[in-house]
Amino acid sequence: MLSVISGPLKHRSLIGLHIARRKVHCSMALTTKILKVDQSSIRFGSDDELSISDKETEQNLKTAADVIKNSDDVVAFPTETVYGLGGSALNDASVKSIYRAKNRPADNPLIVHISSISQLYRILLPKGYKIPSIYEPLMSKFWPGPLTILLPVGEDSPLSKFVTAEQPTFAVRMPKHPIARALIALSDTPIAAPSANASTRPSPTLASHVYHDLEGKIPYILDGGACDVGVESTVVDGLVNPPMLLRPGGVSVEEIRNADTQWQDVILAKKTAGKTEAVKTPGMKYRHYSPTARVILFINCEDGSKTVNEFLESKKIPENARIALLRSKYFEPASSISNKIEIERLLGSTGSEISRNLFKYLREVDEMGVDFILVEGVDESNEGLAIMNRLSKAALEVVNGSFK
Ligand code: TXA
Ligand code: MG
Repeated sequence: MLSVISGPLKHRSLIGLHIARRKVHCSMALTTKILKVDQSSIRFGSDDELSISDKETEQNLKTAADVIKNSDDVVAFPTETVYGLGGSALNDASVKSIYRAKNRPADNPLIVHISSISQLYRILLPKGYKIPSIYEPLMSKFWPGPLTILLPVGEDSPLSKFVTAEQPTFAVRMPKHPIARALIALSDTPIAAPSANASTRPSPTLASHVYHDLEGKIPYILDGGACDVGVESTVVDGLVNPPMLLRPGGVSVEEIRNADTQWQDVILAKKTAGKTEAVKTPGMKYRHYSPTARVILFINCEDGSKTVNEFLESKKIPENARIALLRSKYFEPASSISNKIEIERLLGSTGSEISRNLFKYLREVDEMGVDFILVEGVDESNEGLAIMNRLSKAALEVVNGSFK
């Protein structure tokens, strides 16, 4: 049984260790090891005290925490949204290793993950600074959880400048997944972590997805099973008036609006002009979530039988093309739509099921070598907004059947 209580003294001594003990890993010809961890063995008590009852989980978390704390390298770990690729947010070389492993453009800033609000104040915020009150209702409802907020980067911020990609703000969230929180608490280091996919690929919701994309590029993957939410966190900016939702995600815009009157009129970044959007959310201008196969998104197509058939009969689809169908609420089974569809997966019938399965099935059918993935779109309420945001970025073409 391990017990860790983070505190100011411990942190000061760790800063010394950062400098003295930082090991340099050679990132060429790395063997990527998968370390099993069991989230049910982790408890956070009052005062954010961490205890781990399973020996293997404890050892593997210590190995990963050592990489974060004492090396310039990175570790992939599960969060409740998707797997993250984490490195110390305080160390330039670790953050550079993240960008390198993912092949991520350097102007797309990273989210910083913290294990407690007290850690955020103690390590990242200037003395005497108070988080703007507009965030209070969101933090109390959705932290720990899939919500990311923007805060100003203070003058003496210890954050690596590569985390923020020269934005005047930094993005921060407290994940709910016990493995993620335990890793941050054990290393007592804020962890910069984008999704642990190779840049442009669908985000990973299983350790095997991370292995597929990053094998040989990172030393460890903590395998904590499937991610529960399946799409990334919601990113909000409460530093502007009115506040903005920069990326829809695990917390719906309806939940944000209902959380407090100050958030009732939150503006969706996607509704603003392209230029503003590019500045506000650098990540949104890049290609995203793309399997190798061509994704075709069907919206307003009722049961799919007419529109999908017409599409499959069109000249755009070669005779011998291999086709997969991902359907959800309204589409007929593939056998009733067209005998050209070789593989089908049911994403689910509720928003949370569809979110959880979306990236998994996009990856799964892609790996089976299909040429086209036809996906049934959903309406944009609740979880639907984040689902359609990811699908429209993954899609090469949108077919609008114009049924209402
Ligand atoms: O659920 C998640 O958020 C996952 C897990 C691992 O925590 N992480 C994740 O990170 O999705 P990433 O890097 O794939 O997406 C981060 C998003 C990008 O769209 C980025 O542009 C935006 O957050 N972002 C980060 N810092 C920002 C800032 N200072 N201002 C505006 N947008 C920012
Ligand atoms: Mg990502």
